[in-house]
Amino acid sequence: MNEPEKAYKILVVDDIPDNIKLIRNVLYGRDFNISVATDGKQALNIAAIRDFDLFILDIAMPDMDGYEVASKLRLDTRTADVPIIFVTAKTFPTDLAKGFEVGGSDYITKPFNTTELLARVMNHLELKRSKDIIKFQNNDLKELLHTQKKLLSIVSNDLQDPYVKALRNANKLLTRFTSISNEEKIELINEIQQANQIGYDLTLELNEWSQIFSDKLTFKPVNLALNKVIAFSIDQIKEFKKAQKIQIIYEKKNDLSLLADEHMLKRIFFHLLHNAIKFTKPGGDVIISCILTENDAEITVYDTGKGIERDIAESLFQADFFHNSQGTEGETGLGLGLKIVKRYVQKHGGRIWVESMPGIGSDFKFTIPLVRV
Ligand SMILES: Nc1ncnc2c1ncn2[C@@H]1O[C@H](COP(=O)(O)OP(=O)(O)O)[C@@H](O)[C@H]1O
Ligand SMILES: [Mg+2]
Repeated sequence: MNEPEKAYKILVVDDIPDNIKLIRNVLYGRDFNISVATDGKQALNIAAIRDFDLFILDIAMPDMDGYEVASKLRLDTRTADVPIIFVTAKTFPTDLAKGFEVGGSDYITKPFNTTELLARVMNHLELKRSKDIIKFQNNDLKELLHTQKKLLSIVSNDLQDPYVKALRNANKLLTRFTSISNEEKIELINEIQQANQIGYDLTLELNEWSQIFSDKLTFKPVNLALNKVIAFSIDQIKEFKKAQKIQIIYEKKNDLSLLADEHMLKRIFFHLLHNAIKFTKPGGDVIISCILTENDAEITVYDTGKGIERDIAESLFQADFFHNSQGTEGETGLGLGLKIVKRYVQKHGGRIWVESMPGIGSDFKFTIPLVRV
């Protein structure tokens, strides 16, 4: 769940364009983002793909009346909690009772008083915003709690292993220094070096994680050339031995400039590419692509790796779900990378999800909103 946006989004539904115009005039000049629909079906279609903070519904409409629209909106989890104000010429108590029965939050009778309409609209919008903020903060706190628990388990388990191994080998080297061959010495030193590298990498990942969750990282968006960021990220990942055995392709678009935080965007690519090569066998492919939708740049990091089981893929970005498995060459990890990536994406107001088929590969997709000037 992302932080609630600033401008309130309202959908006005009425079959008579003049009525829509009248309501638009009342709402004009405020920080509202207004969409309109002239019949119930159209309203439901728009509400199915866009988020709203309020619906203003006419009751008497041909084909599907306002009551039916309201009850359908209540059935969809995306719109179930969005307030509905009926604007109606009907004033019989039974009509109003029906309006509340089907999930209406309020009503106003036509011809309406503009001050009253505006006051009711503002009341419901502010109430909805407060609820959204509480929901957002609740989610955030839940995530923080799970994060702290995970942190404790990492410090007490995962972090110990490499250091125990390094210490054991260093002791072996010291106590048997004169009795073992040079080859054995080199092997022990190599193992110490590898264990230390693993331990050090773990502390780096923990450090990145703690910085995000303690809000130490400031978000500094600037205009960035996406091509350059991706070229940098591919070079960076190619430093890993395994990445050199996997084809990494960028389906380059014309120069696209994004308003994004450079450090965070690079870290998003690092983690996604790192996973892509970790879970793909040598000889496989990793492809990065970007398409533009109406409001966002949608970026995909695709791999031909081992894929993810459906139930795991669905939960992978949930705050209370920690999952990690070994890479195709036994690589280990803490299971924090995607949590970090999700936070970075959210800082940009974007979304992240995965589409995957076990044995075929995975598409990790995220959006960065386009800021049009
Ligand atoms: N590209 C991928 N292909 C298959 N599985 C993946 C991929 N990316 C992530 N996963 C799964 O999600 C888990 C969590 O990933 P992540 O948060 O990056 O942690 P880590 O890489 O440390 O395990 C991985 O252990 C793996 O099971
Ligand atoms: Mg990872």
